[in-house]
Amino acid sequence: MAFEVRLPGQSVIVTGAARGIGRVMVQRFLAAGARVLAADRDAAGLAETVTLAGSADLASIVADVSAAEGAAAIVAAAVSAFGGIDILVNNAAVAPHATLLDERPEVWDTVYGVNCRGTFLMTQAAARAMIAGGNPGRIINFSSGVTKRGSAGAACYASSRAAVESFTRVAAIELAQHSILVTCVSPGLIDTQPKPLPPTMAESLGRRIPALPLARPGESDEVANVVLFLASEAASYITGAVIDVDGGAGIGSRFLGASVPDEDVRYDWVTGRLAPA
Ligand SMILES: NC(=O)c1ccc[n+]([C@@H]2O[C@H](COP(=O)([O-])OP(=O)(O)OC[C@H]3O[C@@H](n4cnc5c(N)ncnc54)[C@H](O)[C@@H]3O)[C@@H](O)[C@H]2O)c1
Repeated sequence: MAFEVRLPGQSVIVTGAARGIGRVMVQRFLAAGARVLAADRDAAGLAETVTLAGSADLASIVADVSAAEGAAAIVAAAVSAFGGIDILVNNAAVAPHATLLDERPEVWDTVYGVNCRGTFLMTQAAARAMIAGGNPGRIINFSSGVTKRGSAGAACYASSRAAVESFTRVAAIELAQHSILVTCVSPGLIDTQPKPLPPTMAESLGRRIPALPLARPGESDEVANVVLFLASEAASYITGAVIDVDGGAGIGSRFLGASVPDEDVRYDWVTGRLAPA
């Protein structure tokens, strides 16, 4: 199922690389021939990513994307290791859920700090390095399908991800003159959680998954396929776009019928008249 892209020698930063989709993207960029800087604030998870990859083309840095000095350190490490930056993937995020009546302001600030401020800080620092190095570049941001629905408990997370979609469009317009293309992927439900799941989570997924159009969660590789495409020459005319990778979850629920009978039998739909009783 893996989509083949070649990015020989390209210099890539992947944030949030200590687990989940970030870890898989690190592996996929390496397999495409790129040199990768994996960044995360979770030192233990990041070390595991490095061990699993076992590649001389992989460097890593423990840093917090929501702090200006963290973002600056990540970009400086990529420039120092690889001589410049070609591709930035702003994948790091946090996704706590609570009803807005229960939400704690410090959690709200943390979510916006990582998901929005972090995306901004990393984009600004990396774009400056790309411009200074004379590199055309790609920046790929992350949103979520939850931006499209009023999903209980997601006020903070969903609005922070929607902000990244807006940010992507503005960044795409401003950075186009520097040949930096900025896009955003919006995953639906992706199977990234370590197993076994907590019981309440397992129960709610057990209800949600059968209602998805494809009746299954996505794989991290299926998100990575789209990110690699957006990073590749094949995507040279795409900027500012938000691409859903959600198995259709944003457009509706699973259809199981063979046909749909018209329940309103009162009308003859061709003549518009009431059908004879
Ligand atoms: N998994 C899904 O179902 C899903 C659905 C929609 C969108 N997404 C988006 O996809 C992306 C990856 O999702 P995932 O499920 O792999 O996430 P995850 O929670 O498994 O991993 C996120 C990583 O980001 C790191 N991180 C968090 N805060 C950080 C900070 N301040 N500085 C540096 N690193 C930090 C974490 O340590 C972690 O390694 C996220 O942007 C998420 O919003 C995921």
